[in-house]
Amino acid sequence: MVDFRFEVRARDAAGRIGKLTVNGKTIETPAIMPVINPKQLIVTPRELKEMGFGIVITNSYIIYRTPELREKALELGIHGLLDYDGIVEVDSGSFQLMRYGGVDVTNREIIEFQEKIGVDIGTFLDIPTPPDAPRERAEEDLRITLERAREAEEVKSIAMNAAVQGSVYPDLRTRAARELSKMNFEIHPIGAVVPLMESYRYRDLVDVVIASKLGLRPDRPVHLFGAGHPMIFALAVAMGVDLFDSASYALYAKDDRYLTPEGTKRLEELEYFPCSCPVCSRYTPRELREMPKDERTRLLALHNLWVIREELNRVKQAIREGTLWELVDERARSHPKTFSAYKRLLEYRDYLERNEPVTKASAFLKVSEEAMEWPTVYRARRRARRVAEKFPEKVTHPIFGEIPKHLSLSYPFAQSEGEEDFRIEKPRKDEARDYIMAIAEYQFGEGAGEAFGDVFVELSRKTGMPRQIKAKGKHLATFRAEDGLLTLGIEGARRLHKILPFPRMRVVVDGDAEPFARRGKNVFAKFVVDADENIRPYDEVLIVNERDELLATGQSLLNGEELKVFRNGLAVKVRRGVGG
Ligand code: GUN
Ligand code: ZN
Repeated sequence: MVDFRFEVRARDAAGRIGKLTVNGKTIETPAIMPVINPKQLIVTPRELKEMGFGIVITNSYIIYRTPELREKALELGIHGLLDYDGIVEVDSGSFQLMRYGGVDVTNREIIEFQEKIGVDIGTFLDIPTPPDAPRERAEEDLRITLERAREAEEVKSIAMNAAVQGSVYPDLRTRAARELSKMNFEIHPIGAVVPLMESYRYRDLVDVVIASKLGLRPDRPVHLFGAGHPMIFALAVAMGVDLFDSASYALYAKDDRYLTPEGTKRLEELEYFPCSCPVCSRYTPRELREMPKDERTRLLALHNLWVIREELNRVKQAIREGTLWELVDERARSHPKTFSAYKRLLEYRDYLERNEPVTKASAFLKVSEEAMEWPTVYRARRRARRVAEKFPEKVTHPIFGEIPKHLSLSYPFAQSEGEEDFRIEKPRKDEARDYIMAIAEYQFGEGAGEAFGDVFVELSRKTGMPRQIKAKGKHLATFRAEDGLLTLGIEGARRLHKILPFPRMRVVVDGDAEPFARRGKNVFAKFVVDADENIRPYDEVLIVNERDELLATGQSLLNGEELKVFRNGLAVKVRRGVGG
C-alpha cells in the first residue's frame, strides 16, 4: 500500500491550504520543491530543509545515466545520496525528452529505478507536447502518455505523478485529466507549460490549467510542472494549483538575476535591494556584484529561495484571511501579460463560483474594476436578483448598485469597502423577521425563507443588529455579526430539512458516522456517501443518513462535488447534533 494522503484545511478562490503526507512525512501545501541538480549543488539539500523546504525534486534520469550517481543512489538510497530526510520527488527524463527529443530509458526501467532508490514520489515517462504542436501530434503523444500511465499503474508500488498533457488543446487537456483521474495515481502535474511561461504566455497558461482542473478529480494535489517564479504563485494557487517546483532560484542566480514577487531584476540594475532576507540585509547590490562569481551565485540563489518562501507564505496567509483575490489582483498588475492572464481567469465564472467560499474572514475590498468580476460579486448579484423577487424593497449600495434592502446586513454587501461608505440602516423591530427570511433565501436557496416565517428576532441592545432567532420558545438560528449570515441551530435545521426537498443542503453520511454526527462530532470525508452539488465551501449544511433522517448541522469545508469524491480529511465541521 502506498502511504499517501492529501486533505484540505482551508481555502479561498479555487485555492486551498492542504496537508500532504507521504511515507510518514508531512508538508503543508501550497508548497514548492526546490530542484536539486545532483551534479551541482549550489545550496545543499540540508540547507534547504533548514530554510523550511520539506520537499525537494531531483531528476532520476540524470542519476540513472551518470554511473557514479547511479551506484551511490542504489547503495545509499536517494535520501542518502542527497543527504536529505524530507520528501524526495523525482522526475523521469520527460523534460529532457521535450528539450532534446529523446531519452535512453524506457518507461518501465525508469519507474523500477525510482522504486529501487527509494524515492517518495515518482514520475513516469510522460510525453510533454509543446504548446504549438499540431493537433494530430498532441493526440498521438497523449495516446502514448496514457498507455505509459497504464503501464506505470501496473508496475508501481510508490506514490506517483501522472502528468496531464494535451498541449494547448483544452478538450485534450480535459480528456487527459479525466482519464488519469480514473487511474491509481497520487498527484497530477500539469505538464509542458514551461515553454508557455518562458515566453510570458500566461493567458494561455490559464486556459491550460483550467482545462486540466475541469477534468481532474478534486481530491488529488495538482503540481504546475516547472513553475517556480514567485510572480505567478498567487494566480496559480487561485486556480487550484497546490505544488510548484523551482529550478529558477539556481538558474537565475547563475545568470545574476534576482527574483522578486513582481518579476525578475538583473543584479546590475539594482541600486537597492527591495528585500530584507539574510542576504539582502547583509550586503548591498554593489558588494554582491564585486564578489567572486561562485560566492555571488550562491548568495543570489539563497535570496531567490527566501523570496519564494516569503511569497508562498503570503499566499497562504491570504487564503486564511480570505484575501487571495486581492493579492492576485495586486500581483497581476506587475506585468501586462500577467494582467491579461488574470482577466482571462475571471472569465471562468462557473468554475470559480463552485470553489469560492460563501463567507470570508475579511471584507470584500473593491480594489479595482476587475474586483467586480470576482466570483463573490457574481454570486451575490445572482442570488440577490432571485431574492428581489420576494423582497422587492431596494436600497442603493455604492459598490453593488440597487440591492434588496433585506440583504443589506449580509456578506458581501455590508462587509465591503469601496470609495464611498455604505450606510447600513438597522432593521426596525417589525421588519427584523423579513430580514431573516430574505437572508435564508439568499443563503440556503429558493423557498428557505418559509422556514423562518413565524420567528421572533432578538435585536442586540448594543448594536441594534439581529442576534438570536427563535420560535415557540426554541432556538432556530444565530445571526452572525461578522458576515450577516445564519448559523443553524438544530431546530432551524429541522425546519429547513422539512421544507427543502432532498438533496438540497444535504450531506449524506453512512451508518458508521451516524452515531458520531448525532452526538455533534465532526464528519470526515470518508463517511460521506452523497451530497447536494450546489453546496459551496463554508456553507451551512444538513447532515442526514441514507434514509434522509436529520442527524446534525454544521459548516462544510468542501463543495458538493468534492464531498462526493474526497476520502481524506474533514468534510463538515459539525455545530450541533440531534442527539440520541
Ligand atoms: N518538467 C517540466 N515539464 C514537465 C512535463 O511535462 N513532464 C515531466 N515529467 N516533467 C516536466
Ligand atoms: Zn533578499
